[in-house]
Amino acid sequence: MEPPVLAPTVRPRRAPSLSDIRAPVEDDLDAFRSYFRDAMRSRIGLLDKVTRYVLRQKGKEIRPVLVLLSAQLSGGVTEKSYRAAALVELLHTATLVHDDVVDDAERRRGLFSINALWKNKIAVLLGDFLLSRGLLLALDHGDYDLLHTVSDAVRRMSEGELLQIEKARRLDIDEETYFRIISDKTASLISACTACGAISTTDDTDEITALREIGEKLGLAFQIRDDLFDFGDVDVGKPLGIDLQEKKMTLPLIVALRTADARERKAILKIVRRKKKTREDIRTVGEFVQRHGGLAYARQKMQTLADEATVALAAFPPTPARDALMDLAAYVVARKK
Ligand code: IPE
Ligand code: IPE
Ligand code: MG
Ligand code: MG
Repeated sequence: MEPPVLAPTVRPRRAPSLSDIRAPVEDDLDAFRSYFRDAMRSRIGLLDKVTRYVLRQKGKEIRPVLVLLSAQLSGGVTEKSYRAAALVELLHTATLVHDDVVDDAERRRGLFSINALWKNKIAVLLGDFLLSRGLLLALDHGDYDLLHTVSDAVRRMSEGELLQIEKARRLDIDEETYFRIISDKTASLISACTACGAISTTDDTDEITALREIGEKLGLAFQIRDDLFDFGDVDVGKPLGIDLQEKKMTLPLIVALRTADARERKAILKIVRRKKKTREDIRTVGEFVQRHGGLAYARQKMQTLADEATVALAAFPPTPARDALMDLAAYVVARKK
């Protein structure tokens, strides 16, 4: 795929910060947070204690920001936009809590994960609680269109995760399958955010579809960035090779394996199959991926997707919300966490 040619006026500024991106919806984020916090409350003491901890583990709030900016772009933020933002962040939080159980991860957002502190049992139940709170928030207000969009994303996230596990067992993943996995497990929710932002303020199906497609591209680029972190392509203060430990084959490795000759491919796959990889193993695979252009290829794909999102945004009239979304496309590529 050739990268689209960008007119100079639509080329995003370099490495915008999240606070710049949030600026047009700063006040709206307060309203979102109040819905989000209220939905977390429970009369069960143990549950309330855990949800208070979850609120301290602050995330980047990219999804609520996407909902609110998309709403602003499509006509204006409404009360329903706040609920849409809370709904997606509740479901996102639920899936992260479950993801850390699935991945047996000890840390999340710079703190201990829920499963590390309270064990899997409580983490699974907390995830279910957050999921139901999100669904109820939408149902209580008759927001069936939001519910439909977001529930479909949650279905795809589960399917994507399961396909990823299936592929990790057989190590037979190709680029097309990789894109299907990341589209399902990550881009589905991110495109639901941009779609729900539009749905919360307009009936214009063309506009909703356009924003959904922009979210899809941003979501794919976002996950490729995450997968590049695992190879230490920038220092994010995370241990390297976690994906590799789990036999999760991501784009840089898939591409390098495709480029290498049969003998080297066999040797690398043998390392990937090892139950426990040493630091040396991780370094060997990392060097292999680098040497065969896997990192460069993945970076190029990510940039192309972000550029395509930027070009699609350029079709909207210039407003602070549109420019912030363009900045977000640049941020996704340049982000360091
Ligand atoms: C993490 O999402 C999960 C992925 C899709 C890679 P974020 O990076 O948006 O997580 P938080 O909410 O900021 O912690
Ligand atoms: C995160 O996936 C959860 C979903 C996208 C559903 P990963 O396991 O790839 O991401 P992190 O690195 O733990 O956040
Ligand atoms: Mg994980
Ligand atoms: Mg995972």
